[in-house]
Amino acid sequence: MSINIPRGTQDILPGTVEKWQHIEKITTEICRNYQYKEIRTPIFEHTELFQRGVGDTTDIVQKEMYTFTDRGDRSLTLRPEGTAAVVRSFVENKMFGDPNQPVKLYYNGPMFRYERPQSGRYRQFVQFGVEAIGSEDPAIDAEVLALVMDIYKTAGLQKVELVLNSLGDKDSRVAYRNALIEHFQPRIGEFCEDCQSRLEKNPMRILDCKKDREHELMKSAPSILDYLNEYSRTYFEKVQSYLTALGIDFTIDPTLVRGLDYYNHTAFEVMSRADGFGAITTLCGGGRYNGLVSQMGGPDVPGIGFAFSMERFLAAMEAEGIAWEDDNRLDCYVVSLGEEAKDYTVKLVHDLRTAGIKAERDYQNRKMKAQFKAADRLQARFVAILGEDELKENKINIKDMETGEQQEIALDQFVETLRKKMEEK
Ligand code: HAM
Repeated sequence: MSINIPRGTQDILPGTVEKWQHIEKITTEICRNYQYKEIRTPIFEHTELFQRGVGDTTDIVQKEMYTFTDRGDRSLTLRPEGTAAVVRSFVENKMFGDPNQPVKLYYNGPMFRYERPQSGRYRQFVQFGVEAIGSEDPAIDAEVLALVMDIYKTAGLQKVELVLNSLGDKDSRVAYRNALIEHFQPRIGEFCEDCQSRLEKNPMRILDCKKDREHELMKSAPSILDYLNEYSRTYFEKVQSYLTALGIDFTIDPTLVRGLDYYNHTAFEVMSRADGFGAITTLCGGGRYNGLVSQMGGPDVPGIGFAFSMERFLAAMEAEGIAWEDDNRLDCYVVSLGEEAKDYTVKLVHDLRTAGIKAERDYQNRKMKAQFKAADRLQARFVAILGEDELKENKINIKDMETGEQQEIALDQFVETLRKKMEEK
């Protein structure tokens, strides 16, 4: 019996992987422009990192982690997200001592959540994310938001919407928390079990409940924006004014609370508004997390970041019908006929490749016609034909597949001639 791929995971096959590489190129280039440097952290971490970092009461920690005990009896967890690990590394490697502050990092790698798979939701997915740690300047919030919107714009996405909220600082949230408890407590019995346990632990998360979304108390719930203190309100206004100066459109949604515990002040999501994108419309999520670094044993250093999954990014591009030129077209297919010519092309194709030319040959002992067909399938720009006669005379035939033009040239001039022709193209 054959073994299938685990539920909620996928193979990225040739033909699709080029799309991933296309996006990876965009993210890498844009990060360079904004001066974010790549960080790579382990796929698994101590379970405690996520319990403390993401938060004990979150869905991620309570229901979704891939946790296992290793042979040394340690509890380890496949990372469900990147921020906690990046902050751990920031503290462990004393990056707070770096003279360049804030420390601006990006990452791109697989994350794991035991969620119910559906369109746009996987158990293994790849997150690209950035974290700017060490500044509490609204300008860095605007920079992080500009960066993600720049990535989407460069990829050609148009139907994206930036949704913004402020969760305020600690004092604002304490006031808001009390208001929410007062609002929901009298009728909490009408809510789901999760909401009931959230009431004391983390009442803001009630606003994020999928089951009770339609309950009338949800619509009449107090707004965080009415509970922001002076500092938080001014901070939020400043972020908005920078975004306006940058020409970045946004809408404000006071019910946007995010599913992870570490957020305060700026919280945001980017939604796809493309038809046919699917039920889950969130492309990207992020926000400010002042307090997380100190909670992880570091100094009291603020931070902000976001992450999006490559899977949803690609789905949005598909929904908007965005195509692009794949530059992996073959430069030259070498057709050979006869044993000696075949032997000769082993080195010839190698020479082309080491000269920077994308080259291919036959390995199936195919007839000439089938070799030409293979060249066609690979969309070869040139086909070179080497038969026994040509080999004896030290010559080779080149056919330009776009113009149909054929030319016979000296075999020892072949690589150089083709290189020049490619440059002209
Ligand atoms: P998050 O909202 O849990 O935030 O996830 C961010 C993004 O990851 C989502 O918007 C979505 O694109 C993608 N994502 C999450 N779960 C799945 C899934 N099961 N399948 C496919 N894609 C998924 C975080 O992870 C935070 N660490 C973001 C952040 C960084 N905040 C500050 N810095």
